[in-house]
Amino acid sequence: MRFGRFDDDAREYVISRPDTPLPWINYLGSEDYFGIISNTAGGYSFYRDARLRRLTRYRYNNAPLDLGGRYVYLRDDESGQYWSPSWQPVQRELEDYQCRHGLGYTVIGSRFARIRAEVLYLVPLGETLELWRVRVTNERDTPASLSLYGTVEFCLWDANDDATNFQRNYSIGEVEVADGVIYHKTEYRERRDHFAWFASSEPGAGFDTQRDAFTGPYRGWDRPLAVERGACANSIASGWQPIGAHHVRLALSPGETRDIVFALGYWENPADAKFDPPGSPAIDRRQVAPVIARYLRDGAVAEAFQQLRDHWRSLLETLQVDTGNEHVDRMVNTWNAYQCMVTFNLSRSASLFESGIGRGMGFRDSNQDLLGFVHMIPGRARDRILDLAATQLPTGGAYHQYQPLTKRGNDAVGTGFNDDPLWLVLAVGAYLKETGDQGILEEPVAYDNASGTETPLYEHLQRSIEYTLQRTGPHGLPLIGRADWNDCLNLNSDSETPGESFQTAPYRETGVAESVFIAGLFVLAAGDMAQIAARRGDAGEADRCRVAATSMRRAVDEHGWDGDWFRRAYERTGAAVGSAGNAEGRIFVEPQGMCVMAGIGLEDGRAERALGAVREHLATPHGIMLHQPAYTRFRAGLGEITSYPPGYKENGGIFCHTNPWVMIAETILGHGDAAVDYYLRTCPSARETISELHRCEPYVHAQMIAGRDAPSYGEAKNSWLTGTAAWNFVAVTQWILGVRPEHDGLRIDPRLPADWGDVRVTRKFRGTTFRIRIHKAQGVTGNVTHLSVDGHAIPGNLMPLPAVAGGEAAVEAWVE
Ligand code: BGC
Ligand code: NOJ
Repeated sequence: MRFGRFDDDAREYVISRPDTPLPWINYLGSEDYFGIISNTAGGYSFYRDARLRRLTRYRYNNAPLDLGGRYVYLRDDESGQYWSPSWQPVQRELEDYQCRHGLGYTVIGSRFARIRAEVLYLVPLGETLELWRVRVTNERDTPASLSLYGTVEFCLWDANDDATNFQRNYSIGEVEVADGVIYHKTEYRERRDHFAWFASSEPGAGFDTQRDAFTGPYRGWDRPLAVERGACANSIASGWQPIGAHHVRLALSPGETRDIVFALGYWENPADAKFDPPGSPAIDRRQVAPVIARYLRDGAVAEAFQQLRDHWRSLLETLQVDTGNEHVDRMVNTWNAYQCMVTFNLSRSASLFESGIGRGMGFRDSNQDLLGFVHMIPGRARDRILDLAATQLPTGGAYHQYQPLTKRGNDAVGTGFNDDPLWLVLAVGAYLKETGDQGILEEPVAYDNASGTETPLYEHLQRSIEYTLQRTGPHGLPLIGRADWNDCLNLNSDSETPGESFQTAPYRETGVAESVFIAGLFVLAAGDMAQIAARRGDAGEADRCRVAATSMRRAVDEHGWDGDWFRRAYERTGAAVGSAGNAEGRIFVEPQGMCVMAGIGLEDGRAERALGAVREHLATPHGIMLHQPAYTRFRAGLGEITSYPPGYKENGGIFCHTNPWVMIAETILGHGDAAVDYYLRTCPSARETISELHRCEPYVHAQMIAGRDAPSYGEAKNSWLTGTAAWNFVAVTQWILGVRPEHDGLRIDPRLPADWGDVRVTRKFRGTTFRIRIHKAQGVTGNVTHLSVDGHAIPGNLMPLPAVAGGEAAVEAWVE
């Protein structure tokens, strides 16, 4: 069952009923100011940091789930009837409800009592504000007298404190109303130099800034008294819950349409120019006033909207495909690329599943996210790499996360995840292959942000490699530390304390627990490092990496192979995890994908066997499960993984992030059919028709789909902020379509499924636009047999870089 449809030309998902199985959200903002917005206008906004600079309040885990938002009300001043064009919060039955989630904007509209209202929400590029353009049309043949309200509930900045510290917070709220603009200035009197503002393009009939005055006592946002009565109280908040509510009266003749704009913004004044006149409590509005005025004038929203659309068009133009498969095309051309940008911006901070008050930016996560967006914004990828590397520890190890406001690492979510540093090597490798910018390797970067410790970035990579080599166990495999990619495989801690976080619980390194997954990752990263070193003229380092990779392969050969698949790990007791001898957790997907991606087992058939075992034991119609059998009982020695009920999350859920590793592995073995088959099993667009089961948004990947052991088998959770986005993008574009950036050029090495025909790919790469046509007859599988550029045959399948960048190159490739 569907709850909407893709509008591929408009690059929008069009939701046709408000009661989607879960709130289906979108993101506003692209640089400093962000918001999440659901299909019923729920959500919140923040400046840079979802925890520390929260502008508006949101109630997580509310009933209904999504409460607090950018709510607009309409009231028919003749009948007294009122409604919200976005359905929530009033929930009046509407005609023609429609929500269009687009790239960086959302439009929600409907019709009620022959009044059509549509709200466009967006954040103009480069600004720290959001605009809501309410377009109201009187479809009656009589004049209409209407009241329109735009409302926000302010958050007292630190979202965590806001939700808990009421003894203080109920006394600190402050606002100021001047020239029709509502200013939220809690704590501005003391150490904050920022405030929020909420304005309307129309002269107001009234306003409220105290929540209770607007809603009425014992009432909620669903039936506010000020709307019911048709009049605000012009309340000035002092303590309690500051809000912004603007009331505007509209008289519309038959057929008339009017646009009214509400704008919400964040502003910082210089610390020494906060008040006007100085010494008074009044905000100095001289800098912000012209910005507010600019966005309330006619046409400003349309202009900002156009710029936003142009911005997205140009980002996405870097890579466009025409494969004949609608799911692949719309994911690659629009939604998967968009999701990659959102993970770049938000990391794992703010979604329906990430509260914005929890995790900062993950070191592992951010490095992997980079693989999916580097081609669109290489300059920002460069900055991200340098930020990440500057949090690296002198040992080469990493804090597991850093805070976006301070850019400093911390151990709030634990440290000692021994895979972390290796992802930096993959990220830098991807950046270099995309851009050829060798200069980044020479950038001086500190360790743990301590000035004076700078070394060239290159040395950070060396230390990453060294970190693994210094930490190997009895089988010569890498020690797992607190955990590896699977944050929940905590083999060195045995928490028995109820509620204690497994990620931060004390852990003890005894030098025994090892990870076969990290071994595979190491072989992959060491291969990348060898290439980087060789190109930098450091033959010694390149050799060292190759030798280290070879001995790691040997360790995997000897101790990582279980007979039919790769083992997962060794416990502190020396027992194997992911071994046929185990009753539960006999086979895990991660080492199968990663080891084959690293090229292990290609010569002797083990790679084929490992992937065969994945198909036999782990593949389901909804995707590939993390392991089988799921753990039925808690085992402290294995950690958080066994804390989940079977089939959820890391305990045998379909952890979608790992699926693309298997897809890539399948292409390496030449199995394009298998790769695309797996791709479509978790592909959100391909699951659109089972939305009642999948429940999450059909336009973005989810982290997890419940596995076979779970009662809700097939149900997705944790949509949006997941490494699944970047890895799917890499798998489908670089390995299935095979258009792969390499240090010396663009590789064209597709592994297409038999039932596909010709494929076209437009790829901007190092300044040249490659227009690639892959000729392939249906029924054929195989590799590129010959290739031409601008009519000239070239040997092999690596497109050399043209002598002069900036032009176009027409590439024809034949798969036979
Ligand atoms: C989740 C993991 C996540 C970790 C982050 C765990 O509870 O299951 O998916 O990576 O928390 O700290
Ligand atoms: C989600 C985390 O963000 C990611 O870093 C981790 O690898 C997976 N969970 C698996 O545990």
